[in-house]
Amino acid sequence: MGKISQFVKAGLLLLVMAGCSSSGNGGKDAEMDRFVSDLMGRMTLQEKLGQLNLPAGNDLVSGAVKNSQLAEAIRAGEVGGFFNVKGVGKIYQLQRMAVEESRLGIPLMVGADVIHGYETIFPIPLALSCSWDTAAVERMARISATEASADGVSWTFSPMVDICRDARWGRVAEGSGEDPYLGALMAGAYVRGYQGDGMKQHNEIMACVKHFALYGASESGRDYNSVDMSRNRMYNVYLRPYKGAVDAGVGSVMSSFNTINGVPATADKWLLTDLLRNEWGFQGFVVTDYNSIGEMKSHGVADVQEASARALNAGTDMDMVTHGFLHTLEASLKAKAVTQERIDEACRRVLEAKYKLGLFENPYKYCDTLRARKELFTEAHRKAAREIATETFVLLKNDGQLLPLQKKGRIALIGPLADAQNNMCGTWSMNCATDRHVTMYDAFRRAVGDRATVSYAKGSNLYYDEQMEQGAVGPRPLVRGNDNQLRAEALRVAASADVIVAALGESAEMSGESASRTEIQLPDAQRDLLKALVATGKPVVLALFTGRPLDLCWESAHVPAILNVWFAGSEAGDAIADVVFGDVSPSGKLTTSFPRAVGQLPLYYNHLNTGRPDADDTSFNRYTSNYIDQSNEPLYPFGYGLSYTTFTYGTLKLSAERLPKGGQLKVTVPVANTGRYDGVEIVQLYLHDVYAEIARPVKELKAFQRIFLKKGETRKVEFVLDDEDLKYYNSRLEYGYEPGEFEVMVGPDSRNVQRVTFVAE
Ligand code: BGC
Repeated sequence: MGKISQFVKAGLLLLVMAGCSSSGNGGKDAEMDRFVSDLMGRMTLQEKLGQLNLPAGNDLVSGAVKNSQLAEAIRAGEVGGFFNVKGVGKIYQLQRMAVEESRLGIPLMVGADVIHGYETIFPIPLALSCSWDTAAVERMARISATEASADGVSWTFSPMVDICRDARWGRVAEGSGEDPYLGALMAGAYVRGYQGDGMKQHNEIMACVKHFALYGASESGRDYNSVDMSRNRMYNVYLRPYKGAVDAGVGSVMSSFNTINGVPATADKWLLTDLLRNEWGFQGFVVTDYNSIGEMKSHGVADVQEASARALNAGTDMDMVTHGFLHTLEASLKAKAVTQERIDEACRRVLEAKYKLGLFENPYKYCDTLRARKELFTEAHRKAAREIATETFVLLKNDGQLLPLQKKGRIALIGPLADAQNNMCGTWSMNCATDRHVTMYDAFRRAVGDRATVSYAKGSNLYYDEQMEQGAVGPRPLVRGNDNQLRAEALRVAASADVIVAALGESAEMSGESASRTEIQLPDAQRDLLKALVATGKPVVLALFTGRPLDLCWESAHVPAILNVWFAGSEAGDAIADVVFGDVSPSGKLTTSFPRAVGQLPLYYNHLNTGRPDADDTSFNRYTSNYIDQSNEPLYPFGYGLSYTTFTYGTLKLSAERLPKGGQLKVTVPVANTGRYDGVEIVQLYLHDVYAEIARPVKELKAFQRIFLKKGETRKVEFVLDDEDLKYYNSRLEYGYEPGEFEVMVGPDSRNVQRVTFVAE
């Protein structure tokens, strides 16, 4: 059989797969079809357009429901759903207006950005991905759905699965890092967690995968910026996590703000119809991002009327906040710029979503005020958040086994993030009450009791510059101290301590939406504080708060221990104490490369080799692909993270030297816990296709196992490879592989691997 015959046209294969997965509920679909057709038969054009309209309830944040603009629109049948309204009481009133005061009584979907928790907040998604624990992510999404649904929400704008290779982009915090394989697994875990058993239960809500597509590849890491990308890179890398969510049955998709090769994603027919529906078999509905239709004017593509028509024709079903569908599609219909069929199709998809959510059976399914009282911010949820948070921390450095700290002596806890409730949760945590969040200072005192003393000093402002600091705290009032006094106080506290724990990094608003940075080091005032603390000669532990990879070159050279705690959620303080004092050994591994300099960006482990790979990384090599002034290598690579214990890998073995077509190959490696603590290790397997029709990455993650080993325990870790693992999209976007040599690599991170080769037939 020739090489190419092992490739299958992408579209065809996926269509077959989609066809298989959607069969089996034909009865239910027929019932839904009948119901929706009957309802649509009674709807006017304006009522149909109303279903496609998704306004924000911003005026309800403090205002009364009754006379709000939103209420008016609901009564007039001009609203399909809304978002940004917190509280089951208000939501119930609005739902009642839809059901009892609009002509057809169609219930509303209620959206919210429930991204990493609702009132109980879990670590930011980037941190969650560093657990490599899909079960933990599913559990977090299940709890988030339970809480959100108890407060009236039926639809979450999550998961965000945009692959990001550029640490300047603030929204790297919201996704699962740089890897397509892990990203797709995480995407599925979120969807299963939110939607549960097909959204049948009152605590199961609809997920919305976003931002479709490629938003994480915004040029120069600047938010909302353009994307230009080859189809090949899309298929092999960037699209896979969205596909993972679709395969898991995600109910809705949000299109992205960016243009793709010049076309705004929201008006991209290839993306929203050819790929999403025809190739992937997506059955749900597509909603725009916030005012994406309106923004087509600034993109220089179309005014609102034309943009609305183009978005609809491309496959967009619901318009978030522009009101373009509601106000212009009738005129476009008359002008024959859109068809009645396409309006009907979009309306049908929105109504089907409501049907699947069970809202026609019971519009108040998510409006049980008793649940709100019992199921929000519960002890059980907080316990889960604390446990999961401990899995997400990444121990970057631990010289002389400085960590874990013993609960004795005098501990100086210093830094603007050590006692800052506002900064524990990170981006997208607007539904919680920050005054309930546990800071490190609270938690450390509780953890050590009377066995040790914990003294605290703020030590510095976030930045020296007041304006920069205002940017870093967002709309909150700025509370600043005098730089010199803060430093002097910190050094005084440090002077009497046995060990210093410095809680430094980014504030919550420095990552997330609209938070791109061109410098990704610790903010100046904090870095100077850290230098002064290190200069005391006392042992220093850096507890690093961040929503993105930072350039930690100075810190890694001078600070003996660095624990990256990201933004760990409402229980952050206790979770950090659990790890710092050794009740839990850290096990997180980076899902995003930490650069040595911003000039290396974009930076990712699964890069191509180039025709002139850098021969050695220690010096500049002219006429090879490297920099005069910096290594190519990240400071901390993808997959990296230490533990308090040590894991020793034995020899990597293959069950055979050849992988027959349709056969399997076993890859085994013994892993021993050779240190002094029990611990979890994440064993990673990468593949490299030595020769292929197009250049292939130097390595790609294909499998991993998260294993718990008691101290002294050894386990033989076994992976099974088959030819599915070898496949990729070639230059014609055919999916398959070519027989030949492959390298398999296994190790504790993407840099530190053993290699063996095999031949695929
Ligand atoms: C963000 C989305 C979010 C939406 C609704 C937009 O600005 O890009 O991620 O879901 O707002 O709040």
